[in-house]
Amino acid sequence: MSDPTQRPVLTTTAGAPIADNQNSLSAGPRGPLLLQDYQLIEKLAHQNRERIPERVVHAKGSGAYGTLTVTGDISKYTRAKVFRPGSQTELLLRFSTVAGERGAADAERDVRGFAIKFYTEEGNWDLVGNNTPVFFIRDPLKFPDFIRTQKRHPATNLRSPTAMWDFWSLSPESLHQVTILFSDRGLPQSYRHVNGYGSHTFSLWNDAGERYWVKFHFKTMQGIRTWTNREANAVIAEDRESAQRDLYEAIERGDFPRWKMQVQIMPEADAEKTPYNPFDLTKVWPHADYPLIDVGVLELNRNAAHYFAEIEQSSFSPSNIVPGIGFSPDKMLQGRIFAYADAHRYRVGTHYEALPVNRPHAAVNTYHADGAMRFDAPRGTDHYYEPNSFGGPAEAPAAKEPPLRISGDADHYSHREGNDDYAQPGTLFRMMTADQQRQLFENIAGAMQGVPRFIIDRQLEHFRRADPAYAEGVAAAIARIHTAPASAPTTAADVGGQAAAG
Ligand code: NDP
Ligand code: HEM
Repeated sequence: MSDPTQRPVLTTTAGAPIADNQNSLSAGPRGPLLLQDYQLIEKLAHQNRERIPERVVHAKGSGAYGTLTVTGDISKYTRAKVFRPGSQTELLLRFSTVAGERGAADAERDVRGFAIKFYTEEGNWDLVGNNTPVFFIRDPLKFPDFIRTQKRHPATNLRSPTAMWDFWSLSPESLHQVTILFSDRGLPQSYRHVNGYGSHTFSLWNDAGERYWVKFHFKTMQGIRTWTNREANAVIAEDRESAQRDLYEAIERGDFPRWKMQVQIMPEADAEKTPYNPFDLTKVWPHADYPLIDVGVLELNRNAAHYFAEIEQSSFSPSNIVPGIGFSPDKMLQGRIFAYADAHRYRVGTHYEALPVNRPHAAVNTYHADGAMRFDAPRGTDHYYEPNSFGGPAEAPAAKEPPLRISGDADHYSHREGNDDYAQPGTLFRMMTADQQRQLFENIAGAMQGVPRFIIDRQLEHFRRADPAYAEGVAAAIARIHTAPASAPTTAADVGGQAAAG
C-alpha cells in the first residue's frame, strides 16, 4: 500500500493547497454557507461543465490505440509514407453505433462506425468508415433528413418505424444498406467481430503523378460474429455496455484484435467504363472486377487511460488526408469533407486539433491565430502572417496532388434517375444462406410493426425488384409476425418496433 504521507497535496486549480475537502465553510456548524467558500463554488461550477455536446450521430462509442503494420507493397500506386513496405504507424480506432445517444445500449441493430486516425509522419490521415461497404443515401443533401428518421419523433420522443420505412421506401438507393442492416451482420456481437470499410471511393497518387481510385477494406481476423434480435435483447438486459466491455477487457488481457487491411484499386480511366458509377456510395466494386490486394495488419493493443479525454474528445474528419491519398468526386464524401471539422469546432472547440488525442505526431505549423483555449502559442512571433520575410513556415509544392480533370454544367442533377438500385442488393440477397434469408425476413418484418400498409407495400415493391423471393419472404414473415393488421396512414402514433439506424 502506498504511504499516505507521500500523497501529493490537493490544490485549487490555481495551484494553492486546499486545507479541507470534506466540510464547506459555514457560519456556525449548522450553516448557512459563506459565498467566500470559493472552492465549493468552483467544484459545483466545474461539475456543471463536465459534458460536451454528444456527437450528433455516432454518439455511443468505444476506442483504442494500435498500429498498422504494412506487409504488402502498394507503393506503385501511392507515395504516402504510411504505405511504405514494412512501416508501422500508430493509430486510434473509434467504433460506434449510429442512432443511439451516448448512453445507448451497445447490442442494438445498427451500423457500426469504424473511424481510424492514422498518426502518420506526414500528418494525420483519418479514414472515417463503417462496418458496411455502402450507405443509405448518395447525396449529402439528404443526410440530415435521413438521420432525422433514425432519431426520435418530435412529439413522442420515441423512435419511429414509420419515419424510417417511409424515408427508405421513398429512397430506393437505400435498399442495399437496408438489406445489410437487417441481415445477420446488422447486429454484431462486438466491435472485434466486424469488418471495416472506408466505404467511399478515395484516390491514391504516386510520384509519377498517376492517380488510381481506391476502396479500403479491413477484414476482422476474429471472424464475423452476430446476435439474433432475441439474443441481443438478453444481452442488453444484463449489460448495456457489452461492446465497450468486450473491447476493453480483450485489450487488457493482451488478446489484441486484428484486422487484415486490403484495398481495391481502379485505374483512373476505368471510372468512365464501369457499368455503375464507381463514386456512388450505394454500390460496391465487385471483387471479381477489382480484387482485394493485401496491404497489412491493423492491431489494437492499448486502451485509453481516460475515456473522456481520449475517446469522447477524439475528432475524426474525412478532410484529413496526407500526400499520396486524395478524395474522389463521390458527392457524399464531398459533403463530409465539410461536415466533420465543423462539428468538432462546435462540439470540442476551435483548437480541437491541439488536444493530445487529436494532435498529429508530425510537426504542425499553421498561421491560424487565436481563439478559446489557444495554449500552444508558436515561438518567434514576427512571422504571424504569410508571406513573410522572417522565416515562417512555407508551402511545400512537392505535396501537390496531380490535377483532376472535371467537366459538366452546374445543375441539380437527379441522383435517382438512371441508377440501378436493385442489382447489387439482389446479388447480396442471393448470396445469403437460407438461414440468413430467414433472419433477414424476420428482422425486417419485426421492424415494420405498426408501419402503415401503404408504406410496407411500397417497400415490398423494392424488395421484389431486387428479387421476387426477397419480397415474398418478407411478406410471409409480416403475415406471421404482425399481430394486428397494419394501420391506416398515421403520423405520430406509430411507436414501438425494433429500432434501426444508419
Ligand atoms: P464476393 O462473393 O466476392 O464478396 C461477397 C462479400 O460479401 C464478402 O466481402 C463478404 O464478406 C460479404 N458479405 C457476406 N454476407 C454479407 C452480409 N450479410 N452483409 C454484408 N456483406 C456480406 O462478391 P462481390 O464482390 O461480387 O459482391 C457481391 C455482394 O457482396 C455485393 O453486392 C455486396 O452486397 C456484398 N459485398 C461486397 C463487397 C465488395 O467490396 N465487393 C464488400 C462487402 C459486401 P466476408 O468476406 O467478410 O464474409
Ligand atoms: C460521425 C456527418 C456520412 C461515418 C459524424 C458526425 C457528423 C457526421 C457531423 C459527428 C462528428 C463529431 O461530432 O465528432 C456526416 C454527414 C454525412 C455522413 C454530413 C453524409 C453527407 C457518413 C458515412 C460514413 C460515416 C457515409 C461511413 C462510411 C461516421 C462515423 C462517425 C461519424 C464512423 C463517428 C466518428 C467518431 O468515431 O468520432 N458524421 N456523416 N458518416 N460518421 Fe458521418
